[in-house]
Amino acid sequence: MTPTIATALVLALTLAHHASLASAAGHRVIIVGAGMSGISAGKRLSEAGITDLLILEATDHVGGRMRKRNFGGVNVEMGANWVEGVNGGKMNPIWPLVNSTLKLRNFRSDFDGLAENVYKERGGVYDRAYVQKRLHRSNEVEEGGAKLSAKLRPSGQDDMSILTMQRLNNHLPNGPASPVDMILDYFKHDYEFAEPPRVTSLQNVVPLATFRDYVYFVADRRGYEAIVHHLAGQYLEADKSGNIVVREISHSGSGVAVKTEDDKVYKADYVMVSTSVGVLQSDLIQFKPRLPAWKILSIYQFDMAVYTKIFVKFPRKFWPEGKGREFFLYASSRRGYYGVWRRQRSPGDRHRRGVEADRAAARQPDQGGDRGVLGEDVPDATDILVPRWWSDRFYRGTFSNWPIGVNRYEYDQLRAPVGRVYFSGEHTSEHYNGYVHGAYLSGIDSADILIKCAHKRMCKHHIPGKFE
Ligand SMILES: Cc1cc2nc3c(=O)[nH]c(=O)nc-3n(C[C@H](O)[C@H](O)[C@H](O)COP(=O)(O)OP(=O)(O)OC[C@H]3O[C@@H](n4cnc5c(N)ncnc54)[C@H](O)[C@@H]3O)c2cc1C
Ligand SMILES: *[C@@H]1O[C@H](CO)[C@@H](O)[C@H](O)[C@H]1NC(C)=O
Repeated sequence: MTPTIATALVLALTLAHHASLASAAGHRVIIVGAGMSGISAGKRLSEAGITDLLILEATDHVGGRMRKRNFGGVNVEMGANWVEGVNGGKMNPIWPLVNSTLKLRNFRSDFDGLAENVYKERGGVYDRAYVQKRLHRSNEVEEGGAKLSAKLRPSGQDDMSILTMQRLNNHLPNGPASPVDMILDYFKHDYEFAEPPRVTSLQNVVPLATFRDYVYFVADRRGYEAIVHHLAGQYLEADKSGNIVVREISHSGSGVAVKTEDDKVYKADYVMVSTSVGVLQSDLIQFKPRLPAWKILSIYQFDMAVYTKIFVKFPRKFWPEGKGREFFLYASSRRGYYGVWRRQRSPGDRHRRGVEADRAAARQPDQGGDRGVLGEDVPDATDILVPRWWSDRFYRGTFSNWPIGVNRYEYDQLRAPVGRVYFSGEHTSEHYNGYVHGAYLSGIDSADILIKCAHKRMCKHHIPGKFE
């Protein structure tokens, strides 16, 4: 049987055979979710000969948190935008797909000019040398933090928050406190992890193996999601039933039954749940019997963070352009308040009229706060777009963040299967939770765990103990 995908597809899939409609007849594996991890897991399974797959997707879209949308005449990314960490110690597997296979238009993000683009609360920019000095100091603290992180015991017993590490290094009770120090801190941490240093685990977040060198911003008409469509196209064909919302997963020693919102039941030998940890924390999907206590605890202990980006289109450009003018920081006395502005480079947008403001950890962005941030002479915006990942029941946030207090052993339980129920998704990635490459690799890893059970009857998943 050929794998089918039960969703209205926005891409052209291979049509070598006729797609079979999802039926009540049993499948080998049902995958819940057609985001990067679900599609990557399906590809791995089908390469291992498990081709009787059914993918159930709640939206009408393949790609999940990778999603383009038209804004003011150009495509912008509602979700993931960067290939994070290229040329680091380890290869980011997404990079060859983006830069070679699909040749998606991309730019290396330019952080060099940061020091000359920090705006004062009352207008004007800070002296470059001053910001440079503060940046240098914060880099020193961070390098000290990376060394300290490497020395912490693998058990996670003496993990600490990034803020604790900062206090150890600079003896400031609240961490960075001047407007410039706060926005640099925000840019380094909240802008990356969507949560403040106070809650973020030092041991598990610093340093990130692929995050050594550069980040590349994808701005292609086809969207960053094109890489998910490309992977799907290698093994899936289209099936035009769409919008299938899974509400209940019954599981036993002999198989699984997946019930959807429209009361259909799909049966299979195994199910792979690839929805976000935010969805798992909600009551969208009921498990019967309930998941065991250790599993529930691992799900609730982890954090689903909210990174809010706001696209704003102006009728004319009022910000400086050229090299070193990609990011503009606003050094408010209120930490992180409309802190990061980024010139939007969009395909076909020759005038580059968009500016994108990223504001992490804001569930409800304040309205009307943008004027005065980048100067007095600011025209009224002609278009504003605020993606709402938090209130979307199929996401419940943007990406996971590793909080202080969760050790590696507990984290590994997020990925561990429960009977015939398997889990994948960025939050289950061994090293890169929160990222596109994390989602991609997690799909492969979780598929491998399932394949071991299906092919070799090795179904006991071993989690290395706390002190191994
Ligand atoms: C605003 C934002 C910015 C980001 N920036 C970056 C970045 O620059 N670089 C980077 O590397 N990463 C970034 N990320 C993270 C990256 O997008 C994710 O890590 C990755 O796409 C997650 O893939 P996934 O397959 O794990 O989950 P998802 O993409 O969430 O896939 C899960 C799928 O399950 C579906 N689903 C949910 N519930 C059900 C249900 N009940 N029944 C059926 N289907 C269901 C969902 O619709 C979804 O399609 C960003 C994310 C966001 C939101
Ligand atoms: C990306 O691809 C271009 C064009 O093939 C190439 O010139 C460039 O070196 C690649 N970039 C990286 C960082 O690999």
